[in-house]
Amino acid sequence: MSLKDDLNQIKENGLVKIESSKSVKELNDQIRVDLLGKKGLITQTLRGISNLPVEERPEMGSYANSIRDTLQVAIDNKAQELEEKELNEKLKSEKIDVTLPENKVIKGHPHVIQQIVDQIDDLFLGMGYEVLSGPEVEEDVYNFEMMNLPKDHPARDMQDTFYITDEILMRTQTSPMQARTLEKHDFSKGPLKMISPGLVYRRDTDDPTHSHQFHQVEGIVIDENITMADLKGTLEVMIEELFGDKFDVRLRPSYFPFTEPSVEVDITCFKCMGKGCSVCKGSGWIEVLGAGMVHPNVLKMAGVDANEYGGFAFGLGPDRFAMLKYGVTDIRDFYLNDLRFLSQFN
Ligand code: DAH
Repeated sequence: MSLKDDLNQIKENGLVKIESSKSVKELNDQIRVDLLGKKGLITQTLRGISNLPVEERPEMGSYANSIRDTLQVAIDNKAQELEEKELNEKLKSEKIDVTLPENKVIKGHPHVIQQIVDQIDDLFLGMGYEVLSGPEVEEDVYNFEMMNLPKDHPARDMQDTFYITDEILMRTQTSPMQARTLEKHDFSKGPLKMISPGLVYRRDTDDPTHSHQFHQVEGIVIDENITMADLKGTLEVMIEELFGDKFDVRLRPSYFPFTEPSVEVDITCFKCMGKGCSVCKGSGWIEVLGAGMVHPNVLKMAGVDANEYGGFAFGLGPDRFAMLKYGVTDIRDFYLNDLRFLSQFN
């Protein structure tokens, strides 16, 4: 048999194989390699060309190339055909029957208190604050002393808590995060603006508006030239975000050891909208949080120059916000995990 016959044979057999191939994988990994690969049939046959007389070689070379091209095209066409077929089969087998009855999945949602905390986080993040969390098991130094409440301070009585040792306790407030962040902050890099949400603990009292564990969100802003107007503006933005724009904000003088001056922040009573009712005890206002200008002692104890820097702080209770917003009268409802209660806040 001549070389030409060999090549024709390869072509005929090759085309049959290509046509009967069942998968793109077989086509590429086997047939293509066997026919056209480095060690494939065509290449092997072409070695025989060197045995031909010189003048016959070019013609045989170009004949071999044309066969190679024919096979190449046949493989490519077949591959495309198979790819389409495979895709169609896949689409058919993965088709979803949208007429099937649904598989009802009961979808949960964040706890109502968490929803309020998330809303506060988002708002303050948008105003360039950091959101940090601190330890619930806290040192007396941070929880009290560095907040300007020395060991014998009478205001400690209102915040009796669970003690682990004499110096380690369940924190009674998120305020220790003021001391913790002040201590670390590098003022050459800009102001301190942070809020810190988290759980706090106090000795339980048998009273529906208090719980041994509840939420607080602390906030602090320290820079040069921060005033009480900045505090009021910030609180107004927050109240509007959480309750809507129908509420006025009022600052009333108060006392906290870690702020001077200190204020109690009231908003228009949600029940009577300021007219006076049983909820606001006739005043038209409801107290929602505590705030003030950070006491120089707090700054000094955290190693901050109180002549150069100052600012405001506030502490609010998301549980209380939720009670006010939704008219819930017993704080313990939030912690009983009764879905009939909780799923109202979806
Ligand atoms: N830590 C206070 C409390 O638990 C709340 C508070 C009041 C926080 C005034 C503050 C503040 O940062 O300025 O009763």
